[in-house]
Amino acid sequence: MRMVDIIEKKRDGHCLTTEEINYFIQGYTNETIPDYQASALAMAIYFQGMDERETADLTTAMVKSGDEINLSNIDGIKVDKHSTGGVGDTTTLVLGPLVAAVGVPVAKMSGRGLGHTGGTIDKLEAIDGFHVEIDNDEFMNLVNRNKLAVIGQSGNLTPADKKLYALRDVTASVNSIPLIASSIMSKKIAAGADAIVLDVKTGSGAFMKTIEEAIALAKTMVKIGNHVGRQTMAVISDMSQPLGLAIGNALEVEEAINTLKGEGPEDLTDLCLTLGSQMVVLAKKADTLESARTLLQEAISSGKALETFKTFIQSQGGDVAVVDDPSLLPQAKYQIKVEAAQSGYISEIAAEKLGTAAMMLGAGRATKDSIIDLAAGLLLHKKVGDSVQKGEALLTIHSNMEDVEEVKDILINHIKIVSEEVTAPTLIHQVIT
Ligand code: URA
Ligand code: CA
Repeated sequence: MRMVDIIEKKRDGHCLTTEEINYFIQGYTNETIPDYQASALAMAIYFQGMDERETADLTTAMVKSGDEINLSNIDGIKVDKHSTGGVGDTTTLVLGPLVAAVGVPVAKMSGRGLGHTGGTIDKLEAIDGFHVEIDNDEFMNLVNRNKLAVIGQSGNLTPADKKLYALRDVTASVNSIPLIASSIMSKKIAAGADAIVLDVKTGSGAFMKTIEEAIALAKTMVKIGNHVGRQTMAVISDMSQPLGLAIGNALEVEEAINTLKGEGPEDLTDLCLTLGSQMVVLAKKADTLESARTLLQEAISSGKALETFKTFIQSQGGDVAVVDDPSLLPQAKYQIKVEAAQSGYISEIAAEKLGTAAMMLGAGRATKDSIIDLAAGLLLHKKVGDSVQKGEALLTIHSNMEDVEEVKDILINHIKIVSEEVTAPTLIHQVIT
């Protein structure tokens, strides 16, 4: 087999065979196929696409390029959730304890944040003492005992995807549905999930800027999952404005605690119940999405979800006192209000720009080696559709730096106020089962 023939075949719009896809992924992983040929093929796929079978084959080949985590020592159906990335997306912190409280085992492998999106591990490390450096046996034991544990990414998972994603990033071929779908699904499958729930974001803060693109991506991922024997469901959710009110590590932990108490922001609560219902159904702890939602609401109102969160934090070395007293979380030295320059209605809170502003305050990493300021971030007081009076606070900047003028400028320029009434954006565009 020759790589040049495979590139030509795809360039001319034909389907690649399973053997051809395996040949490419194996050769690219072991470096017998050079970057320039891989980038030519990625571009050919970008223009010609791949059918369902090819996309599933590409996913499987990338899974097989490295280690596969074996979670068979954990009882029950392991359901993983993946979000395509958002700003102030506190869902994982809430969903873990929420679904664990109704008996769904959550064996979560998480990463750190980069750029304007945050990482779950960074957020959890805002809790004093909490750590994810646990070995595999301890991880499995914790999941069996508490139904929830979080471990840092380790091992050699999907090396083919790592190389290919980095290559696509610098050759303008990221934005291809078969390539994104296989990239995301290969990582979830290699991490050992029996079933997968996807939160595909759409809007200014997301990869997929339009609802149509997001639906197409979600449907492709659901088909891949089902094709390779991992039941998959998806939700298309809005990321035109940040989710919830908090952006920043400690601030989001507090927001998650409030949500687990039933006192969280409406949008975050609704999205968690929607995604959580899919997880509960896939784990066979309920027959319908409606009965699953009821179970989850009961776990919140009974206090069981919060109790599960406490046990989880304590088991991984964290100070559980923060749950009852969130002021024990890292606090920023300066809290600076940003006020509305005019009265009216909020028409836009640009998610990605606010993510960047939070990063500049130290809440996120500009580069892989940046040190995070766990206390830094933004706390919104208004969301799109809300009315506001001139001089009223739109949000509070939490910062350990006194000079926040540059950040303030970004915020003022990207929170728009208009005089006509504005309807709040739809949070959940579609539920795909
Ligand atoms: N996220 C991924 O993991 N892979 C992609 O290709 C795009 C987004
Ligand atoms: Ca949030």
